[in-house]
Amino acid sequence: MIKSISHFAMVLGLYAITGCTSEPAPTATTLSVESPSKAVAIHFQLSPKGVPTYQVAYKDQLVIDTSSMGFDFKGQPSLESGFELVSQETSTTDETWNMPWGEQLEVRNNYNELLVTLKETNAPNRSLQIYFRAYDDGIGFRYHFPEQEGVDEVLITDERTQFKLTGDHDCWWIPGDWDIYEHLYTTSKFSKIDAIAKRNHPDLAQTYIPENAVNTPVTMRAANGVHLSFHEANLTDYAGMTLKVDGENLLMESELVGSDLLGGKVKRSLPFSTPWRTIQISDSAAGLLNSRLIVNLNEPNKLGDVSWFKPKKYVGIWWEMHLGKSSWDIASGKHGATTANAKAYIDFAAANNIGGILVEGWNTGWEHWIGFEDREGVFDFVTPYPDYDLAEIVRYGKEKGVELIMHHETSAAPRTYDQQLDTAYALMQELGIHSVKTGYVGKIIPKGEYHHGQWMVNHYRRVLEMGAAHQVAINAHEPIKATGLRRTYPNAIAREGLRGQEFNAWASDGGNPPEHLSIVAFTRMLAGPIDFTPGVFNIKLDPYKDNNQINTTIAQQLALYVVIYSPIQMACDLIEHYEGQPGLQFIRDVGVDWNQSIALGGEVGDYVSIAREERGTGNWFVGAITDENARDIDIDFSFLPAGVDFEAVVYKDGPDAHWDQNPTSLEIEKMVINNSTKTTFKLAPGGGVAISLLKK
Ligand code: NOJ
Ligand code: CA
Repeated sequence: MIKSISHFAMVLGLYAITGCTSEPAPTATTLSVESPSKAVAIHFQLSPKGVPTYQVAYKDQLVIDTSSMGFDFKGQPSLESGFELVSQETSTTDETWNMPWGEQLEVRNNYNELLVTLKETNAPNRSLQIYFRAYDDGIGFRYHFPEQEGVDEVLITDERTQFKLTGDHDCWWIPGDWDIYEHLYTTSKFSKIDAIAKRNHPDLAQTYIPENAVNTPVTMRAANGVHLSFHEANLTDYAGMTLKVDGENLLMESELVGSDLLGGKVKRSLPFSTPWRTIQISDSAAGLLNSRLIVNLNEPNKLGDVSWFKPKKYVGIWWEMHLGKSSWDIASGKHGATTANAKAYIDFAAANNIGGILVEGWNTGWEHWIGFEDREGVFDFVTPYPDYDLAEIVRYGKEKGVELIMHHETSAAPRTYDQQLDTAYALMQELGIHSVKTGYVGKIIPKGEYHHGQWMVNHYRRVLEMGAAHQVAINAHEPIKATGLRRTYPNAIAREGLRGQEFNAWASDGGNPPEHLSIVAFTRMLAGPIDFTPGVFNIKLDPYKDNNQINTTIAQQLALYVVIYSPIQMACDLIEHYEGQPGLQFIRDVGVDWNQSIALGGEVGDYVSIAREERGTGNWFVGAITDENARDIDIDFSFLPAGVDFEAVVYKDGPDAHWDQNPTSLEIEKMVINNSTKTTFKLAPGGGVAISLLKK
């Protein structure tokens, strides 16, 4: 790592940018910082009234025009103007760190930083610092409230960070819901965003959309092909940020998730820093996927060695409940989580190179799950139902090399969960269970708190820390969004936070449309690993669901193991649906932990193709998916190492495949591929291609 600090701004008052968007002429007070290759530049200015403002340029064109920054508080005047510049500092960092598990082994973190210190010229003379980081793949900035006389604590009623766009971009967005991210993406011009129209979704147990705002990551494409994605990094002891949309003025402004109980949005003692506000920037959609900006803006690993967690594929007593074949509770008479059923899944996993089994519905309390107002004290995280022998399942699994993944559905009663954290995590440690799937379905108790507010952000963090203390990794459903914390807490392995596969089983709107994942790849996936749970082969869900189906081909279900990144990947279908299926071989072979990942191509909402090299083996896997349109996808295998022939198995859509009319038409072809191979693959509507490249 090289870190140098100079006390002079890198470029002071001498910066000129050319571009199609006019900008105020830089004055002597413009402070600028450029990325290492100079592709990205951030310009900071105090307006004549002392308002902090910034601009962002990419390849000499503005992508963010003059945008102001500020805060509103309860019991204090706003912090927004009347500032003078006290000092500025710049520094350069170029370091490489290793992901203990991840989509690549080595990550380069290379940026230039500008730190500005501001002070109000009039009483109360408060100080504020802003850190700007310019990367070649985007920018981040964060506010720091330094220790100062007269202000010990703030109650922020809103953060007023603006993002002024330079055009009416194409946008892929979900509403700024304070409780859930499980919405379908809408594609529209920025000026046409209407989040309010997405209120009252019949399939959501919790949803609250107070403003015309979007959630992050929100991804955009400018007319000149530049792609931007807005998000945040290192969300710690703060409320999640949504972005309020002013379509007419091409302006977004931060709208933090609130708390009715707090009477504000964030309460903090000084000193503290806010999360980073981030913009990933690239010439291409695929370029966004190759960016590691979000994890780079988080602090280094705090946990040290986490080798007790091993990336794995898993099966589970799960899909059968979503199909209605069995149920979580025992009173229904069709309890899924029985010892015998779990053993059958373990046998199947062991026979198919799958290392984990999730069992939902194992613990008491499910009789009072959905629809109950009083969910406090209902779930018990240590007591199994009488037909489920927890210790025996753990033992049997170990004998077969299959580890149990614990399940804790909190039913959004986090105080009940908090009370049991100690005993629940001690039990896992005692049994040698190293991961848990948590869930937060329903409106948060107490009423007035929201899933994405500061109170819950802190709850999710306590759970991560408790997990770390007991060598347990967390896969949260109904989570707070990923903001790259897996760098600091590598036991944050995956999460939901999107419309997952489960919607295909029961959504009243027909499930996830064929374009869904070709949008998710460029939006939600930029935040971090996704527990999507791919691998349904019984696409029509017969005989369980008459009105639902998976809206992809089988080949796409296979491609998802490569396209969607997660260190845990489920093979979610019922055991009997895999019987006699040649496509299962791909699930057996595919890796889950990567030396490197390369997004080869894509367009948001149309298609995406990704190649990943497995750690340890040097085998490669390629996945490509398309939306509802058939598509020819060219793959140039020049990313492979020179001089090595790979035995490739290609799992592709049959000539007549179609997500609706013929989703199970799958062809498997063997070929030899090396780094001079260039091939075109034909993807069916809603289709995909999955390729395993095993070293000969
Ligand atoms: C919602 C989760 O997303 C799903 O995977 C789980 O089965 C149910 N909650 C029950 O916890
Ligand atoms: Ca869910």
